[in-house]
This record gives sequence, structure tokens and C-alpha cells, in this order.
Amino acid sequence: MASLLSFLLFSQMAAAVSKGPLYDSFVSLSIELTGFPSFAGTKESPNQFSYNLIKALADAQGSPLVIRVGGNSADRAIYDANQSEATASSCDADPEAILCIGKSFFDSYGAFPNGTTYSHNFNLAASNSSGYDTLRETVPLACDALRGQLNVWEVGNEPDLYRGKWRPSDWPAEDYEADWQNATDSLKTYLQDACADMAANGSFSLMAPSVSSPGSGIKVTDIFNDGENSENFVKQISVHNYMAGASSSGVTVQNTLMSHKAVANKLQSHVNLAESLSDVDADYILGEHNSLYGGGASGKSNVFGAGLWVLEFSAYAASTGFIKREHFHQAVGSAYSAWLPVSKDSSDPQTNPPYYGKLAAATFLANSSTIEVKTIDLNGDADKDSGYGAYVNGTLQRVALLNLREFSSSSGSDRGSQNYTISVNPNESWVVKRLTAPGADVDTGVTFNGYSYEYGTLGLPTRDNSTSSDEKVTSDASGNLYVTVADSEAVIITK
Ligand SMILES: *[C@@H]1O[C@H](CO)[C@@H](O)[C@H](O)[C@H]1NC(C)=O
Ligand SMILES: *[C@@H]1O[C@H](CO)[C@@H](O)[C@H](O)[C@H]1NC(C)=O
Ligand SMILES: *[C@@H]1O[C@H](CO)[C@@H](O)[C@H](O)[C@H]1NC(C)=O
Ligand SMILES: *[C@@H]1O[C@H](CO)[C@@H](O)[C@H](O)[C@H]1NC(C)=O
Ligand SMILES: *[C@@H]1O[C@H](CO)[C@@H](O)[C@H](O)[C@H]1NC(C)=O
Ligand SMILES: *[C@@H]1O[C@H](CO)[C@@H](O)[C@H](O)[C@H]1NC(C)=O
Ligand SMILES: *[C@@H]1O[C@H](CO)[C@@H](O)[C@H](O)[C@H]1NC(C)=O
Ligand SMILES: *[C@@H]1O[C@H](CO)[C@@H](O)[C@H](O)[C@H]1NC(C)=O
Ligand SMILES: *[C@@H]1O[C@H](CO)[C@@H](O)[C@H](O)[C@H]1NC(C)=O
Ligand SMILES: *[C@@H]1O[C@H](CO)[C@@H](O)[C@H](O)[C@H]1NC(C)=O
Repeated sequence: MASLLSFLLFSQMAAAVSKGPLYDSFVSLSIELTGFPSFAGTKESPNQFSYNLIKALADAQGSPLVIRVGGNSADRAIYDANQSEATASSCDADPEAILCIGKSFFDSYGAFPNGTTYSHNFNLAASNSSGYDTLRETVPLACDALRGQLNVWEVGNEPDLYRGKWRPSDWPAEDYEADWQNATDSLKTYLQDACADMAANGSFSLMAPSVSSPGSGIKVTDIFNDGENSENFVKQISVHNYMAGASSSGVTVQNTLMSHKAVANKLQSHVNLAESLSDVDADYILGEHNSLYGGGASGKSNVFGAGLWVLEFSAYAASTGFIKREHFHQAVGSAYSAWLPVSKDSSDPQTNPPYYGKLAAATFLANSSTIEVKTIDLNGDADKDSGYGAYVNGTLQRVALLNLREFSSSSGSDRGSQNYTISVNPNESWVVKRLTAPGADVDTGVTFNGYSYEYGTLGLPTRDNSTSSDEKVTSDASGNLYVTVADSEAVIITK
């Protein structure tokens, strides 16, 4: 009776999936597990370029980033205790393995700025003895490395895509749920042995089910109906998102990325799914997302147009109120990555246009857990003139304006612009920070608020005098604030 009563009380207090306050550091990252050591370096010897770029995103947001380490490679990783390298493409532990990790993999946790928290993605795809050994042997290493800096644990990545690959082509939600339950129960048992403090009720939490899209072949609603959260350990319902595939037909920068309608349509499917999960006691996040799956497409995902998409997508996602945080996926050398952390092939490390979009989004969405984001109607082209307001206690604090008309730096024509009018208080001073570049097509020459964050300075900001910084604007006596934004440009306006 007592336990039934406390169960009822607990159920009533539980925060179900709902529209409401965002998490802090709304703009966060996901890093492909196999590339994590390259991005991070080690705690002893951090990758300073990554460190500086991440620090700037954290400083802009007023809170440290939350880094999800996982992805496809997490479901391939087999642990070999004798392997000295962090990652390898083969190992004695399993001659069939295509990716192996050693003990030193875990030295990379803690390399990012103090306060950064992480999630670690364990292998669920490997339902064989080396897979089970991997879980048993890596839990002690992971918990030791993540004590004090753990966000949540994750078991398996995009299990809906195991069908016909790691599992039968008709693998049902129920069987996935049973596998996941078995693995998370084992995880909790191993944690109890190795790091009991982190297994205590209240400390142990998970993100799940990390499916590839809201329309996944294994339905998220079925997964939860089959008991995925029967023990109440799932705190974050993670669903992934991509606008389209790198090689999908018909994909263009203008229509797939620089489009308010395309972004709003994609995110509506997440809102619909979140609403259908209103009885699940957890928050909804985009645990992995980016522009085009398959690593992104060169010429589309790595150009300034994709940087503008990052801002547009982030602002709209925040405006839904259902999505509490987003994790932009990163992989070494992928077109959609915000930066290349180490030399690869003939390329030096470099900052890519999507980084600047994140910096602008981080500035707009600062202190995300205290703001409410709403769209602002700019009375223009509903697809290409996109406006957002960030409100603190009902007062407009920051504005994001995007002119999503595609302008190519090599077009030879004059660059157009739009004059936007925002309603604020009369005679009020505001500051304009521009996200700009020579065109939507470029992959270098991007600045935010007059600064670049390139490898030459290890990602530390450098003033670019050819662009403006902190432009002052004042509203007129009627409270109209006028701001001109060039085609393929965006501004963040702050008080
Ligand atoms: C690791 O090394 C030990 C000692 O040499 C050996 O007994 C063991 O079989 C090795 N493990 C693997 C997976 O090769
Ligand atoms: C990070 O925290 C550690 C341990 O608290 C401390 O030794 C180190 O100096 C801090 N690093 C920075 C850059 O603040
Ligand atoms: C175990 O599963 C993993 C998938 O993570 C696979 O790569 C590996 O080949 C499997 N091992 C054997 C012996 O089948
Ligand atoms: C459950 O997990 C354990 C430990 O990882 C493993 O040994 C066992 O085979 C799994 N059982 C099923 C039915 O998957
Ligand atoms: C933790 O919760 C589980 C189920 O939710 C329960 O069976 C277990 O007894 C709890 N453990 C502690 C130490 O409270
Ligand atoms: C975020 O909140 C802190 C603490 O209230 C405040 O000092 C800071 O100015 C805020 N940042 C922005 C960009 O509003
Ligand atoms: C918003 O209002 C709450 C409650 O009245 C107050 O505690 C908080 O300080 C306010 N925040 C800001 C930034 O003014
Ligand atoms: C925007 O306003 C400026 C000055 O107020 C004006 O010179 C310019 O022609 C306007 N541009 C457009 C596209 O209306
Ligand atoms: C940019 O402007 C600043 C401040 O006016 C000046 O100190 C700096 O030398 C200039 N840099 C370049 C490269 O012109
Ligand atoms: C705004 O400025 C105008 C011109 O200086 C002045 O006439 C008007 O009273 C001011 N309005 C407010 C609300 O301060």
C-alpha cells in the first residue's frame, strides 16, 4: 500500500514530455565515437584548437557544453584490453571486429573545458560474446573517467537501422526493447560493482532510444509501450534528425537547408512525436543531428549556406519548446563538421562555416534555460525571411533575423538585401552582431560579429576589420528598429 501510494505520488510529480523550459547549453555537440580522441586529445594533452572552439560556444551560452560521444561507430566498437591505441581497425579480442577501442580511449574524457559533461554510448549491436565482454570491461573504465562529468549513459545507436544488418529484417520493437533492457540492466550491475555511487537511484540515467528519425521503422511509441522506461531511468528521449541524405536526389542548399519551411516541416514531425509521448516521464532531445546524413555533402554541408541553416534550425527547434537540447553531430573530415580537429589527408585542421552558425545560435540562445523563443513575423517571404525573439520573463532580450536568399560569391551580380523592422521600446539602443561571408557558396571567409575563429590562432577570435562588430542601432520614437540584412546573411541583435 505504501509503495503504491509513493508510486502514485511519484507519477504525479514526474515531468512528462511537454512544452516548457529548455535545458541549458541548448546548442551542444555529438561526436562520432571513433573520432572522439582526435577531437579531444587527452585530458593530459588536450587538442587546444577544439578546446578553444568549444570554450567560445560555452562562453556565448553562459554554460558548459554537453557532449554526446557515440554514433554508428559506438555499435562497432569492441574492447581489447591489450590494445595500446585509443582506436584501431582490428584487434585480437575479436578477429571479426571492424573497430576496436583500448583503455586509452577513456583518457579523452575531461579534455574539453572544465564543466563540460559527456554521455558515453555503449555497443548494443554486438549481440555476441565480444560485445558482452566489451560492456562488462568498459563500464569500469567509463565510469571512472566520467565521474563528476557525466550527463547520461546511452546504449545502442539508431537501433531501427540494425534491421537487416545486425538483426533480422523484421526485428520488432519488443525484441529491441528486450535487448536494450538486458544491456542496461547489465550496465547498472557493472556500475554497482565498479562505481556504486553512480549506480544509486537518482544518479543512474539514460538517453534512449536514439532512433534515426521521428519516422523510424521501429516506432518510438511502440518502444515505450513495450516498457523502455519501466524502471524510470530514461531521462532524455533521444531522436535523431537529418534534413536529407548527402546523396539524396533533389537536395540543394536553397531548398533543403536555406529554407524556413523545410526546417519547420522537419521539426514539426518531432513536435508531433513528442506530443504523442506525453505520458513518458522524460524530456525530448535531438541526441544527434546535422544537415545531410552520410557525413554531409561537400559543396552543401560545408559551405556558408549550411552555417545559416545551423542558426535557422537551432532557433526554430528552440521555439518549439518540446526540444530541450540539440547535439550537432561531428566526425573527423565529414563535410557537416564544424571543424577538422587534426590534419587529414592533405588538409590542415580548419574551422568550417557550420561552426560560425553555432556561435551565432549560441549567442542568440544564451542562458537557454531562462528564455522563451518565439518566431517573429517579418511580413516578407515566409520561406526566406526568418525572425526569432528570445524573451526573458516576457521581455524581448535578443532577436535573430535571417535573410535566406541564396547569394553566390561567384555570381558577378550585386548582392541584394532586405530591410527588416522589429518592434521594441521607443528610443532604445541595441547591438547588431552579423553572421556573414562573401556568399552562401564559400567554405572560408566567414565571420561572426567581425571575428574569425580559425586554426591559425588555434580557434581564438581574431578581429577581421573588413566586417563590422557590435553595430549600434537605436529604435525610433515609435519603437521601430530597422536592420538591413544582406542576402545569405543573418544578424543577432542584443540589448
Ligand atoms: C592479452 O594479453 C594477455 C597476456 O599476454 C593474454 O593472455 C590475452 O589472451 C590477451 N588478450 C587478447 C584479447 O588477446
Ligand atoms: C580545471 O579543473 C581542474 C581540477 O579542478 C584544475 O586543476 C584545472 O586548473 C582547471 N582548468 C582550468 C583551465 O580552469
Ligand atoms: C560481434 O559484433 C560486432 C558488432 O559490433 C561485429 O563487428 C563482430 O564482427 C562480431 N563478432 C563476431 C565474432 O561475429
Ligand atoms: C543479456 O546480457 C548478458 C550480459 O551482457 C549476456 O551475457 C546475455 O547473453 C544477454 N541475454 C540475452 C537474452 O540477450
Ligand atoms: C532502485 O530502484 C529500483 C527500481 O526502480 C528498485 O528495485 C531498487 O530497490 C532501488 N534501489 C535502491 C538502493 O533504492
Ligand atoms: C546569462 O545569465 C547570467 C546570470 O544571470 C548573466 O550574468 C548573463 O549576462 C546572461 N547572459 C546573457 C547573454 O544574457
Ligand atoms: C524572472 O522572474 C523570476 C521570478 O519573478 C525572477 O526570479 C528572475 O530573477 C527574473 N529573471 C530575470 C533575468 O529578470
Ligand atoms: C534599406 O534601407 C536603406 C536605408 O534606409 C535604403 O538605402 C535601401 O535601399 C533599403 N533597401 C531595401 C532592399 O529596401
Ligand atoms: C584592425 O583594427 C584595429 C582597431 O582599429 C587595429 O588595432 C588593427 O591593427 C587593425 N588590424 C588590421 C589587420 O588592419
Ligand atoms: C524618443 O525620442 C524623441 C526624440 O528625441 C522624443 O521626442 C520622445 O519623447 C522619445 N520617446 C520616449 C518614449 O522616450
